[in-house]
Amino acid sequence: MPIDQAAIYEQVVLVDFVRQLALRRTLSAIECPFKVVSMIPHKSSFESEATRPPEERPLVHPLVDRPFIGALVREFYARVRKDPRLGPIFASVISGDWEPHLEKMTDFWCAVILKNGAYSGRPVPAHLRLKQVREDDFAIWLGLFRETVASRCPPEVAAVFIDRAERIARSLSLAMFFRLDRPTARAPV
Ligand code: HEM
Repeated sequence: MPIDQAAIYEQVVLVDFVRQLALRRTLSAIECPFKVVSMIPHKSSFESEATRPPEERPLVHPLVDRPFIGALVREFYARVRKDPRLGPIFASVISGDWEPHLEKMTDFWCAVILKNGAYSGRPVPAHLRLKQVREDDFAIWLGLFRETVASRCPPEVAAVFIDRAERIARSLSLAMFFRLDRPTARAPV
C-alpha cells in the first residue's frame, strides 16, 4: 500500500476506533483521537472489511500526468490565496516562497491520483497545528477545489479528483474536530 494511502487509511481506522470507544463510553477522557495513536498497533486488530476503505486504483487517463496535476494544484492555490477566509490562514503559515508548498501538494496529488508514492508527509499533524481553522472552512476548501477541477478536467476525471478530495477532507475534518463530548456529530463535509 503506498505511503499516502496507508497514512490516510490509518487515520480512518483510528477515527473509527475512537468513535467505537465513544459509543461504548469506555474512554471518556480522550479529547483528541490522535492522543491514542500509540495505543494502536500498526496492523490494527480493528482492521476489518467494515473499516477498510475500498482499494483505490491509479487513474489512467491520457490527460492526467504530473504537469497536468501541477497546473491544477497551482490554479487551486491561486484561488485559495484570493479567498477572504482561507487566504489569510495560508498566508499566516506560508509567508514567503510558495513554490515548496506547491511542489509538495503536486507530489501529494500525484500520490493520491496516480498512486506513484511521490508524497511521504503526514497531513493530519500538519492540520492539527492550524488552530485558526474551523469545521466550516472545509466546505469552502472543497468548493474551491470543485470549481478548479471542473474548469480543467473532463467530467470522468473531475469525478475522481473530487471523490478523493472529499474522502480525505472528511478524514482530516474528523481528525481535527471530532470530540467525545459530541459523539453524534456528523462528519462536517
Ligand atoms: C479547511 C481546509 C484546509 C485548510 C485551511 C488547509 C490549510 C493548510 C495549510 C496552511 C497547510 C500548510 C501547513 C504547513 O506547511 O505547516 C496545509 C498543508 C497540507 N494540506 Fe491542507 N488545508 C485544508 C484542507 C486540506 C485538504 C482537504 C487536503 C487534502 C485533500 C489537504 C492537504 C494538505 C496536505 C497534503 C498538506 C501538506 C502536509 C505536509 O506534508 O506538510 N488540506 N494545509
